Amino acid sequence: MPISRILVSLCLLFCIYARPAMADIDPAEYQLPSSVRTEQERKRLEAEFSTDKLKEAQLQRLEEVQAAQKQAADKAAWDALPYPVKLTQTRCTSCHVAKTFESQRHNRVGWELLILRMQYLNAAPLGPGERSLIAAHLAEAYPVKGVASFVEALQQFALLSSPLWLWVVWKVTRSHQRRR
Ligand code: HEC
Repeated sequence: MPISRILVSLCLLFCIYARPAMADIDPAEYQLPSSVRTEQERKRLEAEFSTDKLKEAQLQRLEEVQAAQKQAADKAAWDALPYPVKLTQTRCTSCHVAKTFESQRHNRVGWELLILRMQYLNAAPLGPGERSLIAAHLAEAYPVKGVASFVEALQQFALLSSPLWLWVVWKVTRSHQRRR
C-alpha cells in the first residue's frame, strides 16, 4: 500500500475519533451580573410581582365564573328544548352528525321507514314508542315539499300496495292457466 494512502487513512481515522477540544474559558464570564442592585429596587420588583400574581388570580376566577355561567346557560337552553328534539339529538347523533338527517326531507311515513331502517339495518337502539316520536318531530321539522312530496307519496303507495299488485298478478296468471 502506498504511503500516501496510509496517511490519508490515518487522517480519516483521526477525523472520526476527534472530539471537540475543551475550550479554556472561565465560566464566570458567562454568569450574568446581578440586575438587582439595591435593596429598594428588590422591594419594588417584589411588589410588582405580587400585584401581577393577584391580577392573574382575579382574571382566572373571572374566567371560571364565565365558564360556569356559559355551562349553565347551555344547560338551560338544552332543558328548554321540546322532548322530541332532545330525544332525536340523543338517539340519532350517537352514530352520525345531525347533518346526516337534517339534510334529508321526508314525509311522516318516509321518516318512519328511514328510522326503521336505522333500527333493523344499523341496530340503532330505540326504546318502545320512541320511533314515532322522532318521526313526528322530523316530519314536522324537515318535511318534504313540492314535486318531491308527490314522488315520495307515489313510491310509498307502490311499496305499500305491492302485496295487492302481486296478488292481482298471481290471480290473473292462474285464471289464464286454468282456461288453457
Ligand atoms: C347505531 C348507529 C346509528 C344510529 C343510532 C342511527 N343511525 Fe342513521 N345511519 C347509520 C349508518 C351506519 C348509516 C349509513 C348506512 C345507511 O344509510 O344505512 C346511517 C345513515 C343515515 C341517514 C342517511 C341515509 C341516506 O339514505 O342517505 C339518515 C338520514 C339517518 N341515518 C338518520 C338517522 C336518524 C333519524 C336516526 C335516529 C333515529 C339515526 N339515523 C340513528 C347508523 C345509525
